[in-house]
Parts: sequence; C-alpha cells; structure tokens
Amino acid sequence: MAERLQKILSQAGIASRRQAEALITAGRVRVNGAVVTELGAKADPVTDTITCDGKPVKPIGRKVYVLLYKPPGYMTTLKDPAGRPIVTDLLKGVGERVYPVGRLDYNTEGLLLLTNDGAWANSLAHPRHEVEKEYLVRIQGLPSADQIRQLEEGVVLDDGKTAPSKVRQLNSSQKNSWFSITIHEGRYRQVRRMCETVGLSVVRLKRIRYGSLDLGDLRPGQYRLLSPGEAEQMLA
Ligand code: URA
Repeated sequence: MAERLQKILSQAGIASRRQAEALITAGRVRVNGAVVTELGAKADPVTDTITCDGKPVKPIGRKVYVLLYKPPGYMTTLKDPAGRPIVTDLLKGVGERVYPVGRLDYNTEGLLLLTNDGAWANSLAHPRHEVEKEYLVRIQGLPSADQIRQLEEGVVLDDGKTAPSKVRQLNSSQKNSWFSITIHEGRYRQVRRMCETVGLSVVRLKRIRYGSLDLGDLRPGQYRLLSPGEAEQMLA
C-alpha cells in the first residue's frame, strides 16, 4: 500500500517525521533510483525500492519496546571502541535490533528503554512530552537545606539553568545519604552535574522511574517487553 515517504522513513526508525521531511527535501531519498524531493510523494514500502543516503529503507516488522534494568559498568551505545560491555549485550533474547531511548552514563544504573520504533523514541524525547524521570541519588554525607533548595529551584550549568526539580530526602547515616530527584529534562549527565554544581559528591545514581514505568521486580541486567498499551500510554 502506498504511503507518504516521510511516514515510511519514520516507521523504519530512520528519523522523526520532521527529520524525514528534511531528508526528503535535501534530496537524500530515492524511490526506485530516482531522487524524490516532493513532500507529498508516496511510495509502497513493499514493492518499491526506497533508499536514504544510498542505504535501503526497510519497513520494521514487529515493533518492540524493552525496559531494561541497566547495571553500572555498561555503555549505552551500540558499539564501544574501548571494548567495554554495551547494553544490548544484555538483550540476547530480543530478536529485533533495538536502540536506546536517551542514555544512562557508564556508571549509572536503572531503567533504560530501548526500541526499534524510531517515531516513538523521538516523541518520547521531545520536550513537549515532559516525561518525568526519577533517580535515587546516594551522596557522601548529608545535603544541607540550601543544597536541596538549589536543586529544587534549578541549577545553572554550562548549558543553561535546569528546570525546577522535585527532591525527597530518604535514609541517611553518618557517612552517606539517599534522596530522590525527579526531573523532566534529559541533558547530558544532568543529575551528576547538578549535584556537583551545588557541592554534593555522588557515589551512586539509579534511575527508578521513566514516566509511568518503574523497575518493578527486575534485577540488574534483567529486562521485560512493554505491552503495546504501556508503550502508547507513555505518549498520552
Ligand atoms: N543524570 C546523570 O547524571 N546521569 C545519567 O546517566 C542520567 C541522568
């Protein structure tokens, strides 16, 4: 069945609809060998040969959504030139090739989503959805009331001030304490940089919630597939 080219590209996980339009108008997409730059153009993903930058655009069969408990010591990439373990090493039972939605640092653990549905991943990452992410943070010593207030009000980082966050203080001992922080942005090493900036030394960082999803009973290194309803609910 013929469909709009931008829809075919986004469903193949190549780009979001908007990015796909840019690829088309830039002349990077061909149908049966001919460059197509017209945005309304249609093609049949089954019978036509569609390429982007010379590479075949194949429709995805089954869409899969994976919720992984990433252990510390894994890279959120598909390849690591330094040979460190990568998150997809943990997904041997998933037949489809999936990509991480956002990232967790090498030493950060917790909830990581992976999917082969590029449009879903792009929508989740869009600031419009403001998906809440909750982290448990273990720090050396006790945070002061002023440090908590700064985290809650927003911290000036080198890429701008962070949006307000929610902080909940949890257990503490003489040496270490835990708090949870909920943010909806997804900047590079955001929680660690926020803590460093207000003078807190992070010894452990774990993401426990992503929107309506939590780790449930999963143990480090385990994963489960989301139901289509759970995946849809994330964008509601
Ligand atoms: N914030 C961080 O500092 N690191 C992560 O991995 C995720 C959020």
